Amino acid sequence: MRVVVVENDKEMSREAANLIQERIKEKPNSVLGLATGSTPIGTYKELIRYHEQGSVFFSKATAFNLDEYCGLDGDHAQSYARFMKENFFQSIDIDSENTFIPKGNAEDKQVECERYDALIRERGGIDLQLLGIGENGHIGFNEPNDLLSAGTHRVELDQGTIEANSRFFDSYEEVPKSALTMGMGTILKAKEIVLLASGVKKAEAIRGLLSGKISTKNPASFLQLHPRVTIIIDREIADAIQLNQDIA
Ligand code: F6R
Repeated sequence: MRVVVVENDKEMSREAANLIQERIKEKPNSVLGLATGSTPIGTYKELIRYHEQGSVFFSKATAFNLDEYCGLDGDHAQSYARFMKENFFQSIDIDSENTFIPKGNAEDKQVECERYDALIRERGGIDLQLLGIGENGHIGFNEPNDLLSAGTHRVELDQGTIEANSRFFDSYEEVPKSALTMGMGTILKAKEIVLLASGVKKAEAIRGLLSGKISTKNPASFLQLHPRVTIIIDREIADAIQLNQDIA
């Protein structure tokens, strides 16, 4: 596992965007796994900038998002489909036919989850998965639990996750309480993974991820089993966990 420590969000976004840009240049028809949330917004901004400068093109790329809230249709202001459109897709040349996100309002959630995994397989699997991380160590919406699911599935969100996400809604009551998310197997099958984290609130989750131990109570800790992971964290986290680069 490669750990990169950066000084601030700007540097984090640039590191991540450079890595994604490099991969797209090596393989223009890359299949990207993408995340929502505050963390990757800067990365998307950087990639948009690179695209506008003519240095990266996405016309042959495919994108699969990690997750979507249940019960929100794709046009809802807080849906992840809308987030991706507004923060990234509408400003680059990706073909909307090649952008996928689980349908959170599908009538049969089980069928939708199976369809999503089959679609990822049909497209040859994910080449590069971009991840954020929850304060509790969740990746996608794989919340800490006794058992974790391998495939895309429906999940009840943790109290803390609902509270953290309520900042985007008018009230706590409006935050959906469940979501569809890629499972741990879906994520770990990606050929390469890059995880971003900033701010001391994420320090405990990152400590678990670098601990050398794997626990379903910190889903991100499973990334230690993957052969090609880059973790980009800020100095605040590195200092809080007294990161010794050797443990990476
Ligand atoms: C979003 C996702 C989540 C977020 C995590 C961190 O698609 O899958 O796992 O990455 O909740 O969110 P932020 O970046 O808002 O701190």
